Amino acid sequence: MCGIVGYIGRQEAAPIILQGLRQLEYRGYDSAGLAVLDRTGALQVRREAGKLVNLEQALTKAPISGVVGVGHTRWATHGPPSQRNAHPHSSPDGDLVVVQNGIVENFLELRQELESLGYRFCSDTDTEVIVHLIHHYYHNSSAGDLERAVQRAMQRLKGPSAIVALSSRHPDRLIAVRLGNAGGVAVGFGEGEMFVASDIPAILHHTRQMAFLDNRQMAVVTAQGAIFKDLYGRPVQKECVRIDWNPTAAEKGEFRHFMQKEIFEQGRSLTDTLRGRLDFQRHSIILDSLNLDAAQAQRLSRITIVACGTSYYAGLVGKYYIERLARLPVEVDYASEFRYREPLVAPDQMVLAITQSGETVDTLAALEEARTQGAFTAAIVNAIGSQAARVTDGHIAMQAGPEIGVASTKAFTASITDLLLLALYLGEQRGVLPEPQRRHIIRMLSTLPGLAGELLEEALRSERYRELAERYHTYHNFLYLGRNIHYPIAREGALKLKEISYIHAEGYPAGEMKHGPIALIDANMPTVVIAPRDHVYDKMLSQIEQVKARSGPVLAVAHADDNTIRAKVDAVLPIPVTDALLTPILAVMPLQIFAYEMAVRRGADVDQPRNLAKSVTVE
Ligand code: F6R
Repeated sequence: MCGIVGYIGRQEAAPIILQGLRQLEYRGYDSAGLAVLDRTGALQVRREAGKLVNLEQALTKAPISGVVGVGHTRWATHGPPSQRNAHPHSSPDGDLVVVQNGIVENFLELRQELESLGYRFCSDTDTEVIVHLIHHYYHNSSAGDLERAVQRAMQRLKGPSAIVALSSRHPDRLIAVRLGNAGGVAVGFGEGEMFVASDIPAILHHTRQMAFLDNRQMAVVTAQGAIFKDLYGRPVQKECVRIDWNPTAAEKGEFRHFMQKEIFEQGRSLTDTLRGRLDFQRHSIILDSLNLDAAQAQRLSRITIVACGTSYYAGLVGKYYIERLARLPVEVDYASEFRYREPLVAPDQMVLAITQSGETVDTLAALEEARTQGAFTAAIVNAIGSQAARVTDGHIAMQAGPEIGVASTKAFTASITDLLLLALYLGEQRGVLPEPQRRHIIRMLSTLPGLAGELLEEALRSERYRELAERYHTYHNFLYLGRNIHYPIAREGALKLKEISYIHAEGYPAGEMKHGPIALIDANMPTVVIAPRDHVYDKMLSQIEQVKARSGPVLAVAHADDNTIRAKVDAVLPIPVTDALLTPILAVMPLQIFAYEMAVRRGADVDQPRNLAKSVTVE
């Protein structure tokens, strides 16, 4: 969950590392630090508690000049956020520094062992055992061979870890290692300079040529290039991938927050998601990278979707699509539950992960469990080069561009759109979805980006959401209700509100309201209903009546021209009319904007909500 950046080349390392860390701050923002090898050959370390700006100020007061360095932005696991727990951590002689993303599960045992060897610990972190272990092996069994010492140390660790090590005794190299599902390690190739980062946007301004480490691989990175090995020192061939993301896509532009920018660019991101996937001639869907032909699609007996958080809610929408259009039973599971439940997985089953980052530790572990049991594994994934895309039999790239805001928005609508494409694809391959129906949905899909663009443009121009935030920002509890395909949207709307504005919110299937939550309704408990005119519209109307009868304020996501609902509720969050299958993709957008404006009105840090990090790479 932490962010790592490394640089080796001809330019000043500190500004390049800081710029990279700025792009990675969404991965953690408890503290930040960097180490640069100065012109005298000594390692200089600066570390500060709190946000990156504190480190920037420290570097302004005490700059470091040098062309090799590593930096880190932390999401605390072991030890509270403080300067002493900030990375990089140093060996006792100050000759070696290490930054880490992950968890050393056997850290207590290793710490005791190192203490008995005379090492004194200066922090509460698990990372410090790594730097001392490397130091120990370097000066003992590895006889001054840094690579060997790193390999030996990493072999002792339990749990996922990605690290970068830098030693003043080997100033020509950085060593990067990935152990388990600790999150990505991208190695970027420049001209006479090289980069290492946990995530692509951190180095995208400098290079588009990147290679990605897999589990138990290391890179020895010099200014001239990189050599890839496994943890036994055996050479590994790595493919260098060209990244086509636009570097400015990871910048805020005229928007105040990344989340705001990502909400309002959903018209464009949906265009990208659909690009190259709709065949208007044959009324088909093109999903080549899924690697699933008609015979395999026909053999499938069911699909299990595994995901976490917002991606899980996308999966719940996917269940409706796939069951309806491909006539395949679908179950949706939290990846963190699936992996520990001893699930029954059959070879004729697809286990489908949904993951924006492609690095969520539980989702990767669930995929691993499914693969071990012989299922066809697939992923709907946004981050290029991420583990989920590489370990599965097939994948669908979201093509949403980098998502930086910690609260997921455009990746949610991209995932749902991809799930609809998958359902259409499977329906066709399995011969259960007639051509006229496919043609109709494909035609409607082609209008989706335009409808999203209109909805968002109107919302950006109007004062509606700021006024609603003014009216509702002091409430402590919200209930979100949806039915059928909009039940997951209710849950996602509630999650958005709670994670960035810290207001308690529950997402519930509307039909369940009378089985408990109705007890909570009073004038202090607003209810947000998702009520487009669909086959359960009348039932939603009676739900609204029941809330109003108990003096509960009601906000309704409803069709813009729905005057019936407008007369009943306190506020309408309008959406355009389209096919019922596409409505959830539009219905979530007003809820994202509402949550955003509520958080801004409450003075919360929208892009860096407390205790959260963008990719959850530790358990
Ligand atoms: C919420 C949010 C999280 C993620 C979850 C899974 O706004 O962003 O709930 O959806 O951590 O992350 P990915 O999709 O990267 O596996």
